[in-house]
Amino acid sequence: MAFELTIVVPVLNERDNIGLLVDRLEATLAGIDWEVVFVDDDSTDGTLGVCKSLARKDDRVRFIRRIGRRGLSSACLEGMATSASLYFAVMDGDLQHDETLLPEMLRCLRAGEADLVVGSRYMEDGGSGSGSQSKTRRQISVIGGWFGRLMLKVHLSDPMSGFFMIRAEVFENTVRTVSGMGFKILLDIVASAGKDLRIKELPFVFGPRRHGESKLDTLVLWEFLLLLIQKLVRDVLPARFIMFVIAGSLGAVLHLGVLGLGLRGLGWEFLWAQAAAAAAAMVFNYFLNNLFTYRDQRLRGGRLFMGLVSFSLICSIGAVVNVNIAEAMYRVGWPWWLAGLVGAAIGAVWNYAVSSTLVWRLARRTAAR
Ligand code: GDD
Ligand code: MN
Repeated sequence: MAFELTIVVPVLNERDNIGLLVDRLEATLAGIDWEVVFVDDDSTDGTLGVCKSLARKDDRVRFIRRIGRRGLSSACLEGMATSASLYFAVMDGDLQHDETLLPEMLRCLRAGEADLVVGSRYMEDGGSGSGSQSKTRRQISVIGGWFGRLMLKVHLSDPMSGFFMIRAEVFENTVRTVSGMGFKILLDIVASAGKDLRIKELPFVFGPRRHGESKLDTLVLWEFLLLLIQKLVRDVLPARFIMFVIAGSLGAVLHLGVLGLGLRGLGWEFLWAQAAAAAAAMVFNYFLNNLFTYRDQRLRGGRLFMGLVSFSLICSIGAVVNVNIAEAMYRVGWPWWLAGLVGAAIGAVWNYAVSSTLVWRLARRTAAR
């Protein structure tokens, strides 16, 4: 038996909130054929146990247990992918989203008034983002909203909202183009769906968090910028590759700085200055990638060191390949800058492809065992 509405709730350490959420859904959705799917990324506080005991008592409660995975957007997408319902809602598992808005959202979709209904904290006629958000978080939301409107031409008063309901077809039509990275699932879907999507916004008051703490730190702003870049380049390049190249470019700047300092400031020989610069850039790039590019698979402790060693090895091979190809092209008459760029691009693709599978993915697998 399929349900009419599936509510997808990403959860990470929300043990004390989810039972309450199910009670509230039950109260507010009386007369509606609904189910809830909790998508848990291997919480350490016993969230899964609570999901299980709720699911045992109630057929409307399901859960997905993801191991070695992280990320709000992908959790929401995977929750939706398991449902045969006509409508999907996404809401937080910490009671900050006002569940009493759900019946009205459903009514709008059923009546065909929209394909997507968004709970907005920043509508002129009501809604409130105050809740218990910190000042920085509020600023991120406001700045992000600006960017979203400006760059993606998405006209939403609250494009960063994580509270919305869609028709299942909207998911079907966008699931192959959404990036699933980061936490901006709504913006991701809207940007992928294109102009024909009919959107309606409903104001709500963002409540205070009852238990536990927020998982979204300021690094999410970085993820958000990447999502925007990715949408702008029309999904031609994977977002991770873009991050990797940005990190690499910063590394190149550092390289030049160290080289100049060694040569001019310290009077080293070129070879030594160049070697020191390359080592500095490699270590810097490794940590930058570990912090940002592979934020969801971040290596720690002993694996952090092993990762540095393998990353350096891989990038050294990349450098040799880069230099050789560039030199060969230069010799057959390509302009120096084109030969240099092609060499660098090939080196970057190599470094990215090999390090993403060998440094980060492999370390994660061995960790899972
Ligand atoms: N499965 C999974 N994986 N769930 C996660 C993850 C993750 O990596 N990170 C966070 N969550 C869950 C949390 O457990 C919570 O249910 C929900 O996602 C939102 O996370 P919070 O940590 O409560 O985020 P917030 O309150 O700071 O963020 C709110 O505002 C953002 C806009 O600024 C949320 O409403 C977001 O959805 C919204 O985008
Ligand atoms: Mn929250």
